[in-house]
Amino acid sequence: MEEKKEILILAIESSCDETAAAVVKNGREVLSNVISSQIDLHTLYGGVVPEIASRKHIERINYVIQEALDQANVTLKDLDAIGVTYGPGLVGALLVGVAEAKAISYAAKLPLIGVHHIEGHISANYIEHKDLEPPFACLVVSGGHTHLVIVRDYGEYEIIGRTRDDAAGEAFDKVARAIGLGYPGGPKIDRVSKEGNPDAVHFPRAKVEGAPYDFSFSGVKSAVLNHINGCRMKGEEICQADIAASFQKAVCDVLVSHAVEAAKDYHMPKLALAGGVASNSALRSMMEEACRKEKIPLYYPSPILCTDNAAMIGAAAYYEYRKGVRHGLDLNAVPNLKLGER
Ligand code: KG4
Ligand code: ZN
Repeated sequence: MEEKKEILILAIESSCDETAAAVVKNGREVLSNVISSQIDLHTLYGGVVPEIASRKHIERINYVIQEALDQANVTLKDLDAIGVTYGPGLVGALLVGVAEAKAISYAAKLPLIGVHHIEGHISANYIEHKDLEPPFACLVVSGGHTHLVIVRDYGEYEIIGRTRDDAAGEAFDKVARAIGLGYPGGPKIDRVSKEGNPDAVHFPRAKVEGAPYDFSFSGVKSAVLNHINGCRMKGEEICQADIAASFQKAVCDVLVSHAVEAAKDYHMPKLALAGGVASNSALRSMMEEACRKEKIPLYYPSPILCTDNAAMIGAAAYYEYRKGVRHGLDLNAVPNLKLGER
């Protein structure tokens, strides 16, 4: 039988606080990408409240999916498969997307493909960079994960480095709270840093003994807290913008040096960034500069494809689909799913 040329996938993402659905053609062409963010709601509590997230997902998911189908101008009959994030993430939040995807798969007789959330973040790079193909090194920096990954092939990953404590995004969020910027911290630190001096305070750049690609961000977070306390004790005013910019530089310095070293050591021809923190403007420009020096082509998605979305899940689902990966109607949410596990 001749292989169908156009594969249309409806993708669903609900692992944290965005209810998202997208229709993606052949893994790289986004026909629609609908994101319903709950940020305003969780801001009231200073962070994501898991039960509220699940309840909002269940209220919104059908509308979000309908919107994604409408914007793409397709119906369920036009689709070839359903892709859904089944881990890692908040279990109650994941279950909403998984149950929805299973119901659609059953009713519309469509193959079901469970996708790893981080595989989605990495695959976001394929959408705007049509020339990007594995192998490449990828720095995945999100609110829950900080990984250095060697992408050997589509769906084939080797994690060579990870954080020993906080994820990079988590550190941004905690420091933002400490200096009074509130939630979500990453984008706020990014913004106020533009008015600050990144060399005003020297915060530590942690190295993990014997693990050159691992990260540790709890030290820099404590150093920021100590600095603030020290200033308060001396009756000195704290400069929010200087602290934000100095913290951001300390984190980005480590992310850039580890990622570039990894790409070189593993002889990877390209380097990509993925995850919410990959939209950080300082990280992007510092990485650009380092990659230019080392002559390593650098790839990163537009900010809207860096933070949680379903288009990235559709991209990842397509390559899983091509490999013949299919999940049964017994698919469950796996909150601590490991990358590369099926
Ligand atoms: O990938 P993502 O949307 O969700 C997870 O899978 O965790 O990442 C969210 C994280 C949050 O910690 C947020 O503060 C951070 O990404 N983030 C940023 C920026 N935009 C989002 N961090 C630094 N700079 C940004 N511009
Ligand atoms: Zn994410």
